[in-house]
Amino acid sequence: MLTSICEKLGCEVPIFAFSHCRDVVVEVSRAGGFGVLGAATFAPEQLEAELRWIDDHVDGRPYGVDVIIPTKYDNEAEAQTGKTDLHDLIPDEHKAFMERVLREAGVPELPEVERERVHREIVEGRGAMTPQGARRLVETALDHPQVKLVVSALGAPPADIVDMLRARGVMLGALCGKPAHAVRQKAAGVELIIAQGTEAGGHTGEISTLILVPQIIDAVEGTIPVLAAGGISRGSQVAAAIALGAEGVWCGTIWLGTQESELDAFEKEALFKAKTEDAVRRRARTGKPVRMLKSALSEAWEEPGAPPYLLPPLQGILYNEAHARVVRARRGDLYSFPAGQVVGTMTSETSVKQVMYQMQAEYIEALERMSALMPSD
Ligand SMILES: Cc1cc2nc3c(=O)[nH]c(=O)nc-3n(C[C@H](O)[C@H](O)[C@H](O)COP(=O)(O)O)c2cc1C
Repeated sequence: MLTSICEKLGCEVPIFAFSHCRDVVVEVSRAGGFGVLGAATFAPEQLEAELRWIDDHVDGRPYGVDVIIPTKYDNEAEAQTGKTDLHDLIPDEHKAFMERVLREAGVPELPEVERERVHREIVEGRGAMTPQGARRLVETALDHPQVKLVVSALGAPPADIVDMLRARGVMLGALCGKPAHAVRQKAAGVELIIAQGTEAGGHTGEISTLILVPQIIDAVEGTIPVLAAGGISRGSQVAAAIALGAEGVWCGTIWLGTQESELDAFEKEALFKAKTEDAVRRRARTGKPVRMLKSALSEAWEEPGAPPYLLPPLQGILYNEAHARVVRARRGDLYSFPAGQVVGTMTSETSVKQVMYQMQAEYIEALERMSALMPSD
């Protein structure tokens, strides 16, 4: 499985792990894979603290940072980030709707101190979901020499970010859900495409991984490496991705069920109970389609009479504040966290080491099964 991307980035196996949790990033990189920290919800100071911790624990291994640079976002929010409380830009109609849904479901308010902390963290973090916010995160990442890859999601990175990364020799990757996106990203200077199929957790398009990966490889004419993402949690799927021409795999959902994941026991239980068909695409979480667990809260926003979705980062601020209340109240019926279709195959807690080991063992089994099909002479 030693593909050329391993050599370029200095990892041993091309298993990339997207996670918001620094422990997952560290464990994957230490196990020979490549951990990538999802930074989009961090303020620059928080990101700095996370990256310092990773540097101290990653044993000199390489890792990456992922930022969200949306092409569609709220301009006013971008202009006001850091100057005013972005919560004040959310229309009253939207706040009142969310409040009514939670009140009618009997979800209590957060205690005052917690409400302030959650509010501050979410507003500062979600403020990063604009080009200017992402720029600050990239600058922070570049102060950490073990960061060998920066990935952008939801849009082509602006030229100054591309130049900044080039000057430091840090590889730039981008998530794409359509061949046309990959062509645009390549033209913008992206050096690694993550072809993410609709099965994936998080922001996702409509084309499945099996269709998308070869389409994207064709679209970039084999000139830059492509990773397969979406629906990959076991070794046979890794073998399938490599068979499609990908240089490796990029996984997100599978790490949520590990002991290293940031989710607490209540949240993991909700994931382990979920079936594949419970992972649906909805806009309630950020304003753009996100595959996430279906719940009474996600569905309330789909009802006739619900207000129209806001653009990033405002919908995300509103939704995440509500989500914090739902988690505190331990309300599984209202719990919606981003998760891909592989969630239906996750039934109990694992560890990063276990997942890494199983993926590689199953990969070898799959190759052996396939090579046994070759004529012997
Ligand atoms: C909880 C969660 C949050 C995610 N957030 C982001 C994000 O902030 N930025 C990003 O580029 N991708 C994000 N993704 C998508 C992942 O990077 C990855 O492409 C996807 O999880 C792969 O599909 P899988 O979930 O089937 O493994 C997220 C995925 C999950 C499960």
